[in-house]
Amino acid sequence: MFKKVAGTKDILAPEISWWQKIENLSRSIFSVYNYQEIRPPIIEEAAVFSRSLGEFTEIVQKQMFLIKNKEEIYALRPEATASIVRAYIENNLDKISALQKLYYIGAMFRLERPQKGRLRQFHHIGAEVIGSTDADIDVETVSLADSLLKAYAIDGYEIKINSLGCLNDKKELTRLLSNSLKGRLSDLCPECQERFKRNVLRILDCKNESCRRVIAKCNIRDNHLCDDCKTHFERVKQGLSDLNLNYEVMPHLVRGLDYYTRTVFEITHKSLGAQDALGAGGRYDNLVRELGGPDLGAIGFAFGVERLLLVTGLKNNRQEDRNPVYLVTLGEQAKKEGRKILARLRQAAIACDTDYAGKSLKGAMRAAGDLGCQYVLILGDDELNKGVITLRDMGSGEQKEIKQDDLIRTLKC
Ligand code: HAM
Repeated sequence: MFKKVAGTKDILAPEISWWQKIENLSRSIFSVYNYQEIRPPIIEEAAVFSRSLGEFTEIVQKQMFLIKNKEEIYALRPEATASIVRAYIENNLDKISALQKLYYIGAMFRLERPQKGRLRQFHHIGAEVIGSTDADIDVETVSLADSLLKAYAIDGYEIKINSLGCLNDKKELTRLLSNSLKGRLSDLCPECQERFKRNVLRILDCKNESCRRVIAKCNIRDNHLCDDCKTHFERVKQGLSDLNLNYEVMPHLVRGLDYYTRTVFEITHKSLGAQDALGAGGRYDNLVRELGGPDLGAIGFAFGVERLLLVTGLKNNRQEDRNPVYLVTLGEQAKKEGRKILARLRQAAIACDTDYAGKSLKGAMRAAGDLGCQYVLILGDDELNKGVITLRDMGSGEQKEIKQDDLIRTLKC
């Protein structure tokens, strides 16, 4: 018997209804913020990601699902920001509107060691705004993430923000950090000793206790930021406070992808344990240009849907009753007429079903009960002769004959 690939999931009922709720809520909130949906392909040239995320990031080094095709190497997307920037440039979206607000919902793929909240195929609900460096867009983006979480009935989350500054500031931060870590390398974990050679900033968000102690001594604050980036960050913080959004400034928040500049943020939830990020994002003001497009600012974020589902209060709401009307027919003639009745009910948008397994009356009634049906319709020779149908209320057990012509009206009452 075949089994699913490790780190993937079959999403079945009743869980599928929470997915649909979260997706529907997201679409309506995105539309309130004037976003358009975008659906880029799941497969891209691998270079789209290695160029955007950075050659030395964990995702590019270890986690990409690669497909070799003759001379080309494709990748199943590990995230969508790079794809969307590629699509933005290829489709000249800047010519359509100066500011593009795009959202996406879909599967991402990372070759990680599966554990709670960490899968190899997982899903993002994400947003990207391309075409502005205005700090107000940063504020709106964080506020959008907050509105989505509220709509998903999630509370107890924490919004953490930081500013990495522009490319020069990031270089300065790297220099400051390298200088202060130089004499303390032996206190770092082996992985951070590697990071020191290739990607020093990643040391800042290492979870290892001894690395954290070393980093605390480095006294990293905002001293790497230039005046423009400082002003930008001040405006973001002020804007968030004006909207009464609770946030915490975390000077060590750097994120694992190289494209980020200026504002970065992460939204965590304590109950998630080790993988505590519900979502994350930030500015990427150089990426559009680096991938061959115009020089435009951009910002975005993505939630991991599987993690949202671990904490959403929507699961506590009573499931909307799926209560299709169930038709039980007795005899060949009734079965034939029954098909027409089902077609009429469906045309009137009344959910309904019948038995296709040749069940007895008792078995069909049991099937209707299992489906949670409120009404069962019974059609036999007697009913056919009189032009009626028997309607049974499964809750009260009450049963009455109604004219077939009155059926839709009665069910809609
Ligand atoms: P990311 O932090 O890599 O950012 O992913 C965003 C969220 O996806 C994480 O906070 C987490 O909830 C979820 N996630 C990541 N990896 C996994 C996994 N293996 N299993 C389950 N959930 C996972 C990005 O991908 C950026 N593209 C976000 C962004 C958009 N930045 C700017 N625009």
